[in-house]
Amino acid sequence: MTDRFSGILKRGGVVAFPTETVYGLAADAFNPDAVKKIFHIKGRPSDNPLIVHVSDRQMAESLTRVISPAAGTLIDAFWPGPLTLVLPKRRRVLDLVTSGLATVAVRMPDHRLALQLIRQTGPLVAPSANLSGKPSPTRAEHVRQDFGLDFPVLDGGPCRIGLESTVVDVSSDPCTVLRPGFITLEDLEAVLGQHIQAGYEQDHLQPRSPGMKYSHYAPDAKVRWMLDDEHPGDPKTMYLFPGLSPAGPEKSNVKNYHHRYHELAKDLYDRFRQADLQGYAEIAIGKFDNQAALLNRIEKAMG
Ligand code: TXA
Ligand code: MG
Repeated sequence: MTDRFSGILKRGGVVAFPTETVYGLAADAFNPDAVKKIFHIKGRPSDNPLIVHVSDRQMAESLTRVISPAAGTLIDAFWPGPLTLVLPKRRRVLDLVTSGLATVAVRMPDHRLALQLIRQTGPLVAPSANLSGKPSPTRAEHVRQDFGLDFPVLDGGPCRIGLESTVVDVSSDPCTVLRPGFITLEDLEAVLGQHIQAGYEQDHLQPRSPGMKYSHYAPDAKVRWMLDDEHPGDPKTMYLFPGLSPAGPEKSNVKNYHHRYHELAKDLYDRFRQADLQGYAEIAIGKFDNQAALLNRIEKAMG
């Protein structure tokens, strides 16, 4: 199933492929012309570095000079999985990939088709397979919405997690989460037995993960929080309730998640895209706590 796609990649082309988080737009990490195509197709600023995807630890070691004990512990605990590690890069990793940084972001996706593809091609750079500024794609049809019906997409169905990977800088002391994701700061602390910084909450640390400074993931509909005394009555508004839901029957524009936050995470970008396709003016979201990744993506969509 992956042969046609690995063929395109080996010839320097670009394809979209599924991961457990979101669909990625892949190119051969060692082919500069192929990597340039990624920035061009997405309309991505060249100062936003790419994640290199690997299918085994040896492939990761071919990209990075040292895997510290902490990094090794996280790899053993969470790979394959939605965790990206920022590690010191080897010289052979293209500056184009890291935007000139001395570090490279590496991850091993937990998806059968992704791993099969990478085994055939070697390391693949892959940002999310959306036009810059659009919500990340969590279904093959989202990729086709952005890049056209003929774009080569390896279809793995809907992504299991639906939000982009947790990005951790393991070269800093203490380790720093640069982008929150399915693997939480508490998950990382439990495995490492040490305190970890939430870098995404500190503006002065943001340049360390250059991508976080861009407004991302925003639909055309205006995303906002529900007001305290508001009722979900406007037919031009899509209402999402992550936690407490309003009394009364569910309507086509009101979706209750009853604290099933992982389900909302899986749905969120699809809801954003649906809202635009169906012409909603606004997406109103009920307030909730303690879900760093969801909060981060929703607040980014609010701009
Ligand atoms: O789940 C994911 O991570 C998806 C799937 C396709 O794997 N990929 C993804 O890639 O979300 P992208 O390009 O949309 O986001 C990559 C993030 C950006 O915020 C970027 O700035 C950061 O990782 N990043 C990449 N290399 C870095 C580095 N060397 N140091 C710090 N941050 C880095
Ligand atoms: Mg992205």
